[in-house]
Amino acid sequence: MKIASILENQKIEKRIAITPEIAKKYISLGLEVVLSENYGTHLGIKDEEYNELGVSILNDEKEIISNADIIVQLGLLSDDKNSLLRENQTFIGVLNPYDNKDKIDNLVKKNINPFSLELLPRITRAQSMDILSSQASIAGYQSSLLAANHLKKYFPMLITAAGTISPAKILVIGAGVAGLQAIATCNRLGAKVTGFDVRQSTKEQVESVGGKFLELNYEYDDSDKQGYAKEQSLDKQEKQNELLSKYIQSSDCVITTASIPGKKAPLIVTKKNIENMNFGSVIIDLAGESGGNCEIGDYGEVTNFSGVIIDKPKNITNLVSEHSSLVFSRNVEAYLDLIIDENKVNLDPNDEIIKSTNLNLEAKIE
Ligand code: NAI
Repeated sequence: MKIASILENQKIEKRIAITPEIAKKYISLGLEVVLSENYGTHLGIKDEEYNELGVSILNDEKEIISNADIIVQLGLLSDDKNSLLRENQTFIGVLNPYDNKDKIDNLVKKNINPFSLELLPRITRAQSMDILSSQASIAGYQSSLLAANHLKKYFPMLITAAGTISPAKILVIGAGVAGLQAIATCNRLGAKVTGFDVRQSTKEQVESVGGKFLELNYEYDDSDKQGYAKEQSLDKQEKQNELLSKYIQSSDCVITTASIPGKKAPLIVTKKNIENMNFGSVIIDLAGESGGNCEIGDYGEVTNFSGVIIDKPKNITNLVSEHSSLVFSRNVEAYLDLIIDENKVNLDPNDEIIKSTNLNLEAKIE
């Protein structure tokens, strides 16, 4: 059975789905691995390195796509390449079916089996496949470094010959995987970090990575049955924003990561907050893709608003592309381990992980 991947559009995606480590594993399992030329060159991985492992490197992407049994990518292929996919092929990636409904419908009509890994249930058995966690952790880490780079101050407290420098004050709003990693990273850099989340269960987690949990005195909605935050009603969100204002305004950096799966991100940092922040303060909004937690600034842009720097990074995992590829490809391998049996795709229709990620529920079950 052939598993293939082609080079992503380098303008937007620097990660790869099959690293040499994982190619070696697939080959040892009896799979044939086919990649396009220069697949990992931008990460310092030469074609020869793959060749030595037994990977076939081809320059004809058309041939690679049409001959593969399983194709793994970071996202959907471009339209011209998508049209090359054929019946009974398995396509795995982060396919964002809510925004790409028509494209996915077309794949399903052609009886291609698309699997979208961001739909994995957040259960213990799926942890090794959890691309949301592996990539969110990298985003949280990198958001702290972006904040430290934008801020014209030190993060740590320093006692120097020129006197004492007080530590930067960081507020992280949303303490899921990304937020907790941001708190941990800012803490390691020596900043004074506070975290807030509407899920009370995060208090202990914030404290365990060195942050102080901000308790706001109002009744907010906690998590749903799956453990995800509930969308706050308008009045509760307004109350939260009112109570958070003084903490936002007195912070040197605010890192926001608040989101609700499948919904628009809550608006938390208002224009008025920004107007009241000190000159040179920094906001890193990691929720840009789902609309943003900060009222000012555009997704993918850095904005200077009255001296406050607002960064809403796009594809932030590209900045750590070597390790984001490493963990992504390991996640995919763990997923394939679930769906491949005796060298063929074998789907258990009752498996919760398969049911959640399979976008072609009519897919042929062997
Ligand atoms: P996420 O990316 O969906 O959301 C980020 C954070 O924003 C969450 O902590 C959420 O509570 C918070 N948030 C939402 N609205 C907010 C508001 N108005 N104000 C402040 N904060 C707000 O979260 P993530 O990291 O994907 O985690 C979601 C859930 O999945 C958690 O319960 C987590 O423990 C669970 N999880 C389970 C795993 C497993 O068992 N395999 C792995 C990773 C996460």
